[in-house]
Amino acid sequence: HMKRRKRWNNYPPGPVSFPFIGNLLQINFQCPRLALTEPTEKFGKIFSLQVGWKNVVVLNGLEAVKEALVQRSEDFADRPPFSLFDHLGYRKNCEGIMMARYGRGWKELRRFTLSTLRNFGLGKKSLDQRVTEEAGYLCSAFSSKDGHSFNPRFLINSAVGNVMCSLTFGNRFEYNNEKFLRMLHLIEEAFNIGAGIMSQILNMMPWLLYIPGPHHNIFQPYADSFDILREIVKKHKETRDPGFTRDFIDAFLEEIEKAKMDPESTFSEDNLIFTVFDLFGAATETTTVTLCWALLFMLRYPDVQRRVHEEIDKVIGRDRSPEIEDQVNLPYTNAVIYETQRYCDVVFAGVPRTTYRDTEVQGFFIPKGTTIIAVLSSVLKDEMIWEKPHQFYPEHFLDADGQFVKQEAFLPFSAGRRMCLGEQLARKELFLFFATLLQHFTFHIPEGQPRPQEDGCYILIHSPDSYELCAIPR
Ligand code: HEM
Repeated sequence: HMKRRKRWNNYPPGPVSFPFIGNLLQINFQCPRLALTEPTEKFGKIFSLQVGWKNVVVLNGLEAVKEALVQRSEDFADRPPFSLFDHLGYRKNCEGIMMARYGRGWKELRRFTLSTLRNFGLGKKSLDQRVTEEAGYLCSAFSSKDGHSFNPRFLINSAVGNVMCSLTFGNRFEYNNEKFLRMLHLIEEAFNIGAGIMSQILNMMPWLLYIPGPHHNIFQPYADSFDILREIVKKHKETRDPGFTRDFIDAFLEEIEKAKMDPESTFSEDNLIFTVFDLFGAATETTTVTLCWALLFMLRYPDVQRRVHEEIDKVIGRDRSPEIEDQVNLPYTNAVIYETQRYCDVVFAGVPRTTYRDTEVQGFFIPKGTTIIAVLSSVLKDEMIWEKPHQFYPEHFLDADGQFVKQEAFLPFSAGRRMCLGEQLARKELFLFFATLLQHFTFHIPEGQPRPQEDGCYILIHSPDSYELCAIPR
């Protein structure tokens, strides 16, 4: 292998690797974030690792990440092969959307999904209405705690999950509906496994599957999630009215019908299941965790909370619900939400990419088929760019007159062709949920409990340690 590397002039430097396992033993699995940022001290912002036989290049900082994902967008638009899922039914043009290889199947599916989500519109309610309505249910659930302390994560997760249910299945569920909770739980579990270190390792070293052991059980949550989704699709087919599109599943079923004669089409029933699974997996945990961080920062920084309250009182008042149009008139509240996303760097390592052809970044040569990790955290906290990269500081997004300003290095949704498909939806949810909650409640640290910490835990995503709050009606 060393021989092959020598042929590549200018391949990014990295730690010396061992046969078979590469750098596996040198990687800090306790803290993946440090594993991806620490080697920059020795090797620079672009460095290489070897995992099994696979070459991995890690990109740190705004310049490298932008050059790769934006300027050379197509060169970096592929995802690593994930042959691990083949026996779950994944195949060419039928691999969902998140991990789909770059090509016709992914393009069709991405275009369809984006325009379908945008048009909701579908059925009777607009997307904004669906989110506003759910924000109302979330407030009622917070109220029902009567000022007693609770961990907000469970309710937020249900509210965020319900927005996806409403879009894809056409209905929402009560927060204590057992079937609903089981489904959310299973999809989250499966999704975390798929993104987890264990399946990455199995994927890169599939020969491990020949060795018996508990790692074979990791597929069960997938099978269970797919069963639940298949059942829901079956009901849709039975109750469908071809003249009326109720939701995402109906819209997809229409595409399947149109593509009946094309065996290569990306619109098949299997792919419908995989796509809905991906949407739930990508949407729920990320948005939930971001909102948990936002409330945690309100507990830690009462002055910031007070200014958000004042702004909402002035612009919206207490008699009507926040609407998406209010966002432009709430620069401080908006800055708090942006700063939350910057500082909590939820998807800190992005989602792995693969080079689609030989390419280069900052003068380094990167061959086709290399796994690329663009460390979004290193952009969101780039010390060359942000005034206070390692502090919660909403002023990052405000000018001297208190007006909202965008920042180039604000990339929590990544950038380029594969960037987050749900950005618009996520923005709506973050704004409407946050503004509605802050309109109705003052958040306190429960008496006798410590101030919640902002370190959290970097595993797949960066989530806060669990904490409790009191929601006092205003
Ligand atoms: C991909 C972040 C919410 C659907 C991604 C990626 C990031 C991300 C960093 C990887 C992009 C890349 O490879 O460069 C976030 C954050 C969210 C959020 C921080 C919330 C705060 C959502 C929502 C949806 C969604 C609500 C649902 C509609 C997707 C999908 C992909 C994706 C389908 C894969 C796109 C592709 O491969 O073409 N997201 N996301 N995300 N996200 Fe999100």
